[in-house]
Amino acid sequence: MLAGTSRAAVFLVFTVDHGGEEAARELLADLSGLVRAVGFRVPDDRLSCVAGIGSLAWDRLFDGPRPAELHPLEPLQGARHRAPSTPGDLLFHIRARHTDLCFELAALITRRLEGRARIVDETQGFSYFDQRDVLGFVDGTENPEGARAGRAVFVGEEDAAFAGGSYVIVQKYLHNLDQWDTLPAEEQERVVGRTKSDDIELAEDAQPADSHVALNKVEDAEGEEQPIVRANMPFGSLTRGEYGTYFIGYCRTPAVTEQMLRNMFLGTPDATHDRILDFSTATTGSLFYVPSTDFLDDPPAPSGAPAVFEAPAAGPRPEDTSLGIGSLKVPAAMTATSPKVL
Ligand code: HEM
Repeated sequence: MLAGTSRAAVFLVFTVDHGGEEAARELLADLSGLVRAVGFRVPDDRLSCVAGIGSLAWDRLFDGPRPAELHPLEPLQGARHRAPSTPGDLLFHIRARHTDLCFELAALITRRLEGRARIVDETQGFSYFDQRDVLGFVDGTENPEGARAGRAVFVGEEDAAFAGGSYVIVQKYLHNLDQWDTLPAEEQERVVGRTKSDDIELAEDAQPADSHVALNKVEDAEGEEQPIVRANMPFGSLTRGEYGTYFIGYCRTPAVTEQMLRNMFLGTPDATHDRILDFSTATTGSLFYVPSTDFLDDPPAPSGAPAVFEAPAAGPRPEDTSLGIGSLKVPAAMTATSPKVL
């Protein structure tokens, strides 16, 4: 999540077929090994992969408690613009300095899920000059760093069983560059809220209420700023005439990113909507919980796994004040990760 900026990325979103649950579980358990195997070949390229699990998939994959705030992304219909909610059971956010490593890992993941899950979106992102989006603005400057970033993204004691994980929201935007390019640079700066060439935030008295930056500063009840960690990437296809931004935002609670989305699409008392949307159309939208590596390496039992009733030892132990009903236990074999290649 905190891998920082990368020159290349691949975003894969899958839906898992009925009957594909075990393959998905096995892949998730083997993921850290796959990343090591591919990444070790070119260590300087800093390959990383984050896996996210969608709300509907969670109950099909795992028994037991769910991450407290995992739910499908709510679609938003503003007066002018719409944020759709689109299917997604598994997200893989793969990053490295070069595309070859990203592509290799994406291919291995896809092969492991062949016939068990289908790709509903594959986006290959690239870094555009000095961290710019295809609108020409530097994107990512105000991301929190260091300990502040950790506090922003990792679930804590508020949901102890899922501490160390995170939530991520993705949206794929297509830009109308013909229309954007008709705006003079000063007007583009008023849309984004920062200067274009040197990336400085507009002064408070020059900052429009409906700029992208103004609408994405979210504060809690005490007036404290609530940051998210973004790792947006440009993408494009000349054949399809697509110029896009893949938005990806991590946070310890999806509520912060959802508030930003409401500000952008539904507006605030001071702004009808985020002006960046007049030039950008959201074509996908999904929300995922990102488990910690510890969770993935030793996941809970599969959904619907028969639990084994363990009878209490004969006679209550002296310190045992319970009713001696016994405990539900899942056999170790059901939780073991399998190195088997599908
Ligand atoms: C059309 C897609 C998008 C583009 C091209 C885009 C681009 C940018 C740019 C150029 C900046 C200013 C530099 C920076 O601090 O990164 C920015 C800031 C920001 N964006 Fe976006 N963004 C997009 C979508 C989103 C979405 C969907 C969200 C949240 C749901 C979001 C949240 C933010 C936040 C939190 C900031 C920092 C605001 C601040 O504190 O100054 N962005 N974005």
